[in-house]
Amino acid sequence: MKTFKTTLAAELPHIEMALAVAVKELPASVQPIARHILEAGGKRLRPFLTLLFARLFGLADRDCHRLAITLELLHAATLLHDDVLDKALRRRGKPAAHTIFDVSAVILGGDALLAQANAIVASYGDTRLTHCFSEATSRTAAGEILEISAKGRTDISMQDYEDMVRGKTAWLIRAACEMGALAAGARAEWTRAAAGYGENLGMAFQMVDDALDFAPEEITGKPTGGDVREGKFTPPLRLYRQSLADEERTAFDAAFARGLVNENNAAEIAGRIRQAGYDAQTREEARRYLHSALAELNALPDAPERQLLREICTYVRDRKK
Ligand code: IPE
Ligand code: IPE
Ligand code: MG
Ligand code: MG
Repeated sequence: MKTFKTTLAAELPHIEMALAVAVKELPASVQPIARHILEAGGKRLRPFLTLLFARLFGLADRDCHRLAITLELLHAATLLHDDVLDKALRRRGKPAAHTIFDVSAVILGGDALLAQANAIVASYGDTRLTHCFSEATSRTAAGEILEISAKGRTDISMQDYEDMVRGKTAWLIRAACEMGALAAGARAEWTRAAAGYGENLGMAFQMVDDALDFAPEEITGKPTGGDVREGKFTPPLRLYRQSLADEERTAFDAAFARGLVNENNAAEIAGRIRQAGYDAQTREEARRYLHSALAELNALPDAPERQLLREICTYVRDRKK
């Protein structure tokens, strides 16, 4: 039986090939930066979602990979920018690009990747695709800006957090799904369901990422406790803060607000979060979104891809990296 894992494994060489072609089309000065982030690996979840939705709605076209990788190019650009914003030193198990190349060059490299992705989407001559892609780019940036304004604050509501996540992470995943449906010419209500699935999956994906932030770096390839050092008040941290006695909470708030949580404090907090199961509890909270994602699939055609999309919800819930 075809599972999500075996199907992704079969698609990966085609995805990688399309990415390699796109990288070769970049200006020479951008290529080393693009290769650094893209050749470090990554799950390639976003292009895979585009392919699955395109197939679900009957597009057998091999050329789909070129459209699908535009979402990975956009994702790679946001990661280049995000690691500068977050001062994160490692990504995909390798040194972050800005620790190897000049920071300004990395930001401009991200811009060039974005432009390249835009050019590929535009070549399909379908304004709905172009619009969807631009919207995802804009929403991602807007979400990251919301996150910057929330930095160091422990008074942000769950609603503020969700608005920020919808922008910085969920919209790109939503666009990956919607663009697959659009490319296949799916009818309007199916395209809306694909977008709804992607948005909900994306919300859950980020909540699980926030749980994984406290997992060991050997597993995730990203620094442990980076979020607490960077003043991001994520769900596991909210639970941790609630568990503190008044005095300890006041001290935590002060250090968090001033960006004074160092690597040792972060490691200790990560240990306490794992011990108390606040990461597992955050995964539980993400299930609300996964249920909504699954519900969107019910009205879609009963093709094999639909089952794989269901499996992806379980994968996101349980993923270890
Ligand atoms: C990381 O995304 C950024 C988030 C939106 C949480 P992934 O976890 O998909 O990263 P890669 O592509 O597999 O490296
Ligand atoms: C992911 O947020 C959002 C974007 C990359 C735009 P995070 O900052 O949590 O992602 P990681 O943990 O660095 O991958
Ligand atoms: Mg980050
Ligand atoms: Mg993270």
